[in-house]
Amino acid sequence: MRQVLIAGNWKMNGSRSSIRELLDGVKAGAGEIKSAELAVCAPFPYLADVQEQLNGTGISWGAQNLSTEEKGAFTGEVSAAMLLDFDCKYVIVGHSERRSLYGEDDALVAKKYAVARKAGLKPIFCVGETLEERESNVTEDVVARQIDALIALEGVAALADGVIAYEPVWAIGTGKTASPEQAQAVHAFIRAKLANADAAVAEKVQILYGGSMNPANAADLLAMADIDGGLIGGASLKADDFLAIGKAAG
Ligand code: PGA
Repeated sequence: MRQVLIAGNWKMNGSRSSIRELLDGVKAGAGEIKSAELAVCAPFPYLADVQEQLNGTGISWGAQNLSTEEKGAFTGEVSAAMLLDFDCKYVIVGHSERRSLYGEDDALVAKKYAVARKAGLKPIFCVGETLEERESNVTEDVVARQIDALIALEGVAALADGVIAYEPVWAIGTGKTASPEQAQAVHAFIRAKLANADAAVAEKVQILYGGSMNPANAADLLAMADIDGGLIGGASLKADDFLAIGKAAG
């Protein structure tokens, strides 16, 4: 049985006080969530606060990006070791916003995954197609290309203890969710693709769905055989919504 993971991606939102309030709310209700692991991926400046608030609660935390470099003259960058200094468990790599707005390509994302994993972080590796790509029927090609860049660099075994998030770009922040069947089809494709290389890795890897997941659609998405959790943007900024998604995991 794969552990269900409900991970919040706060993006560039919140303030010290709003995050304190949000986490107070999440902590108050987290005891009712039995089967899912909860995690929040916070903006860098708030990691110390998040660590302080979540330490010992069973709720995990992480960051939204990292550098491929260890240290040195890389102004504005944050290393894996720095994230570990704040006890981060997770780090998102290759979110579509980083790919499209900051020019992160498949090779860079693969490198970020490798660096994070080697440091002892659990990377959440985002893949997904744009609307244009879906309409041109190349969804599987795009997702396969994104995953192949990682396999080429690190081998398929690098995914055994990792997390993939399938996030159709057209569903992110748009209120348009992939239907459970649409999402399941891509998740099954990813798992089958990995199984071709290594059946044990395919069985173990957690594949999250992301893209306008909310309390109303979470149960149906999470009921699908190959959907092992969610990467939640907007709905993770409200404690009640985030908790409701956690509860929808069963
Ligand atoms: P959303 O974002 O839930 O607001 O669509 C998901 C994500 O970008 O990870």
